[in-house]
Amino acid sequence: MDQKIHEYESDDIKVTYDSKRCIHSAECVKNLPSVFDPNNDPWIVTDNASVEEIKEAVHHCPTGALQYSDTENPENPSRTNTITVGPDGPLYVRGDIEIQNADGETLLEDTRVALCRCGESENKPLCDDTHKDIDFKAPAGFDESKLRPTTNGDADHDKLIIRLMENGPMLIEGEYEVLSIANQRVNSQKNVAMCRCGQSGSKPFCDGTHKEVGFEG
Ligand code: SF4
Ligand code: FES
Repeated sequence: MDQKIHEYESDDIKVTYDSKRCIHSAECVKNLPSVFDPNNDPWIVTDNASVEEIKEAVHHCPTGALQYSDTENPENPSRTNTITVGPDGPLYVRGDIEIQNADGETLLEDTRVALCRCGESENKPLCDDTHKDIDFKAPAGFDESKLRPTTNGDADHDKLIIRLMENGPMLIEGEYEVLSIANQRVNSQKNVAMCRCGQSGSKPFCDGTHKEVGFEG
């Protein structure tokens, strides 16, 4: 995973911006244009709003490109681990996230990430917006029967492990909710394999096609 970190600081807060993780969704610009303005140089001015307003705007960044440094009051993970299926785009994950390699070694711990599922990101497992360049198509919804839904789950403060299988899918372990813009919301504790080669016939889940297409990642 590549990083290109830029820092913006005032007396009360430091905001970092990783341009390798930004997919220009403009949530920050919409939420707090006085601070985040791509027409300005620098494009982030932390003097132009309160610390709480800036933290709130940073929390809306879906990819984790924006972070703030506050060791006394760090960002708390969302109460529930959620995986939102982005139509024709990445999986947006929020919560207490740990990404591991196939050997179980930690690669990244975070509260917000956007995960590549078109198979073409240069910054796997993170999305780098390549899905737009290749006109990646994937449905907004998902087959709920693949998840073994639970009705009384409590995904509170349960770590979500995302394990990257070599040349294969990402395994999701823990308790989580899968959401779609089609108003689906399914709580599950089932270990499930999500496609990251972009070729599965049952996206967002893996159906084994990665072997046929020779996916490398
Ligand atoms: S919200 Fe995050 S991903 Fe979206 S434009 Fe701002 S920094 Fe980039
Ligand atoms: S990773 Fe795409 S089908 Fe398995």
